[in-house]
Amino acid sequence: MASLDRLFEAAKAAQAKAYAPYSGFKVGAAIATPEGEVFAGCNVENAAYPVGSCAEAGAISAMIAGGASRIGEIVVIGEGDVLCTPCGGCRQRIREFAAPDTRIHVAGPEGVRRSFTLGELLPFSFGPDNLTDR
Ligand code: THU
Repeated sequence: MASLDRLFEAAKAAQAKAYAPYSGFKVGAAIATPEGEVFAGCNVENAAYPVGSCAEAGAISAMIAGGASRIGEIVVIGEGDVLCTPCGGCRQRIREFAAPDTRIHVAGPEGVRRSFTLGELLPFSFGPDNLTDR
């Protein structure tokens, strides 16, 4: 897997490119696959507000387009002092490609502030198994 430092830098670089003229809140996300590949994304807002997309969604799209499909760990970096934990929708997006023990690192500009597991952020989640184990 890629080093956490490398992953943090990838998330920070993506955050710098975020298109967030409406909220003014730039977010970056970087995924490391178990094979050590890194895919990053940023939030992209839209004048039609609900059409905007989150940084995690962008990173997941990059991962899938890049031919990978498992999240080894992920860094999410936001602005301000409050922890930028993934929104509910993004927890579910991450869940599709991750396991309950997958680490989600929440960062600020200075570095990783706190790490969670997906199971902590999205307990008793709904996932692919619900549809296949029938
Ligand atoms: N945002 C993300 O990119 N990821 C999250 O998990 C939470 C929120 C973005 C969406 C919007 O562009 C801005 O942050 C403010 O909500």
